[in-house]
Amino acid sequence: MAEKLRIGIIGGGGIAGAHARAYSKMDDVQMVAVADVVPGKAAEFVARFDLAPASALVDYRELLQMDLDAVSICVPNVAHHRTTMDALAAGKHVLLEKPMSVTLEEGIEMTRAAKRAERILSIGFQPRYDPNMKLMREIVQSGMLGKVYYVLTGGGRRRGMPGGTFIRKDLAGVGAMADIGCYSLDMALLAIGYPKPLTVSACTSAYFGTNPLHHPEADRFEVEDFGAAFIRLEGDVVLNFQISWAMHMDSLGPSLFLGTEAGLRVTPGGTGPWGGAWDGGVGSMTLCHDIAKRNTDSPIPLISHNVDIFYEKVRDFVVAVRDQLPAPIPAEQILYNQAILDGVFRSAQTQREVVLGLPADL
Ligand SMILES: NC(=O)c1ccc[n+]([C@@H]2O[C@H](COP(=O)([O-])OP(=O)(O)OC[C@H]3O[C@@H](n4cnc5c(N)ncnc54)[C@H](O)[C@@H]3O)[C@@H](O)[C@H]2O)c1
Repeated sequence: MAEKLRIGIIGGGGIAGAHARAYSKMDDVQMVAVADVVPGKAAEFVARFDLAPASALVDYRELLQMDLDAVSICVPNVAHHRTTMDALAAGKHVLLEKPMSVTLEEGIEMTRAAKRAERILSIGFQPRYDPNMKLMREIVQSGMLGKVYYVLTGGGRRRGMPGGTFIRKDLAGVGAMADIGCYSLDMALLAIGYPKPLTVSACTSAYFGTNPLHHPEADRFEVEDFGAAFIRLEGDVVLNFQISWAMHMDSLGPSLFLGTEAGLRVTPGGTGPWGGAWDGGVGSMTLCHDIAKRNTDSPIPLISHNVDIFYEKVRDFVVAVRDQLPAPIPAEQILYNQAILDGVFRSAQTQREVVLGLPADL
C-alpha cells in the first residue's frame, strides 16, 4: 500500500502510550487523532507522544467520523463494548485492549459485529509475542506431551493490587480474574488449541482490596482480588485456573500441562510485586518425562531476547490491516476466554457450577 495507514486512538491513559509509541516507530502509519473523554487529556497525550498534527478530541464519535483505517481502543473495560461496536459500525478495523469485554453477551455482539462489518477485531494480548511463550506453545503443540488432559494455570501476586479505574465496578467491571487472569487463560488455551469451554465452577473474594491495611483505596474497592476456577473444556480437558492480586503467599506455583506422554512445568517470569503472573513472561520450563522407564526432568533452555512485545502486538495488527489478513488475535478465539471469565463471576455469585451458553455458530 503506497498510502500510509490512518490510525486513531480512543482513550489516552496508561496503555494508550504503548500503542502511540509503537505506531510512532512505523513509517507506514500516520497518527490522525486521539480522543479522551477527559477534556484536555487528548491534547496532552498528543503533545507528550509528539503526535502532531494529530487532532485531539473529547468525543470518540467525532474521531470515528474521520477518514481512518483503524483504531486502537484503550478505554476502561466497561467502555470496550460501546466503543468497539461504534468503531466497527463506522467501518474501522479495531485493536482492542484486553479483557475483551465485561460480559459474554457483549463479547458475542462484538464478535458478530466484526464479522458482519468484515473488519478486523483483534484483542491486545501482547504476551503471545514473548519468544518463550511461543516456545512453550511449540512444545505443547508438537505432540510430545501426548494427549493433554489437565492444565493448571494462573499466577499470583503477593501484593499487586492496582487502584483507580481498575477497582471500580462502574469502570473496570471485573477485577484480578479478568485483569491478569485473562492472560493466563490465553496462554494456556492457545497452547492447547483454544478448545470450547463447557462449564465453570469458581469462587472469588476481596479480602485484601477491601482492607485499609492492604489497600489505600479500600473504601472504593468493588471487584475481586482473588479467584479460583475449575473449567471443563471440549475434548475431555480440565483447566484449573487461579489468580491473585494479593495474598499471604509468595506464589501460586507453576503452570502445568499434564499429558499422557510427558508433562510440562512452566514457572512464571517477572519480578517484584507485580511479577508472578503470566503477564510477566516465562521464568523456567521443564519437561517431565520417562527415559528408559526412569522419571526424568529435562530443563528447556530459555530464549534470551529483547523483543518489545507491545510493539509486536501493534505491528501485527497494522500488517493485518494493510495486507487484508485475518485478525492476529481473533475475537472468535478470545470469546472463549471471555466466556470462562463470565462463567467465573456467575458461578461465584450463585455458588454453583454453571454451563457456558456459547452460541453454536461461535
Ligand atoms: N495490554 C496491557 O498490558 C494492558 C495494560 C494496562 C491496561 N490494559 C487495558 O487497557 C484498558 C485501559 O487501561 P489503562 O491502564 O490505560 O486505563 P487508564 O484509566 O489509564 O486510561 C483509560 C483512558 O480512557 C479514557 N476514557 C474513558 N472512557 C472513554 C470514552 N468513552 N472515550 C474516550 N476516552 C475514554 C479515560 O479518560 C482514560 O484517560 C483497560 O481495559 C485495561 O485492562 C492493558
